[in-house]
Amino acid sequence: MIKKIDHIAVAVRDVEKAAEFYEKVLGLKLGGVEEVEGMDVKVGFIPIGDTRIELVQPLDPHSGLAKFIEKKGEGIHHICYEVDDIHKALETYKAKGAKMIDETPRKGAHHSLVGFIHPKSTGGVLTELTQPADS
Ligand code: CO
Repeated sequence: MIKKIDHIAVAVRDVEKAAEFYEKVLGLKLGGVEEVEGMDVKVGFIPIGDTRIELVQPLDPHSGLAKFIEKKGEGIHHICYEVDDIHKALETYKAKGAKMIDETPRKGAHHSLVGFIHPKSTGGVLTELTQPADS
């Protein structure tokens, strides 16, 4: 059901500014900067092999992400697994007792469908599931 780690997300105050480390120091390339409708975030993806780092910047100062940065500073925010069937994944994990943030998928970046599992039932790791648009 889980195919791979789709991305590891890093909460940042400014996508382009944060990307400078990845580009200038690590020699990676920022691509696919997008404001995600309905989620009040700006994201930028940095491809690495078969996976990506997602830089995620809050656009709404009252959002959970903005509060996360305020409280903990910039840093790792969540891990995202690619699944082949997001509806089934959310249903299955809920049935197995996971505390879900999303019981039905919502729209993510690049027309994907995403859903989150609450860190309370994952050992403190906010966990995202995604089904890409092309699968
Ligand atoms: Co994500």
